[in-house]
Amino acid sequence: MAVLPILEFPDPRLRTRAEPVVAPDAELRQFVDDMFETMYAANGVGLAATQVNVHRRVLVADMSDDHQQPLALVNPVILETEGSQVYQEGCLSFPGLYADVTRALKVRVKALDVHGKELVVEAEGPLAVCIQHEMDHLDGKVFVDYLSPLKRALLLKRLDKQRRQAASA
Ligand code: NI
Repeated sequence: MAVLPILEFPDPRLRTRAEPVVAPDAELRQFVDDMFETMYAANGVGLAATQVNVHRRVLVADMSDDHQQPLALVNPVILETEGSQVYQEGCLSFPGLYADVTRALKVRVKALDVHGKELVVEAEGPLAVCIQHEMDHLDGKVFVDYLSPLKRALLLKRLDKQRRQAASA
């Protein structure tokens, strides 16, 4: 397994629209293992292939504290949504930044597992947020896109400042 480098905003490659996986194979399973390792190493709860510069429709998530609920979705499609919730989101491509985003409370998602078997996942609350957030990445969308221009500008300024401080430390 390997920890892959994560693209950070405003890397233009984060705007790439990912292509469907044609047939899950051993190479895909290796890649998904690497995605889990990368996500866990960065203390994240979700990661989209886009973020490691692989433009295929694959995401991983694990909301547990002890890495016991790994979920990998290949070619995910939202079948149904219900309700709405506001949740404070972060993103491994925006280290140290958090913002409230409004999304569906519940989602029903159709996908393939890493062996190509069809599955339907019903998620609610934080896992539903995570799946929607990661699916956005596959369409080249990031969570700050949901913020008002003013809020986004403030947040990105903070990101800039953090980077300058990190660079001069
Ligand atoms: Ni993200």
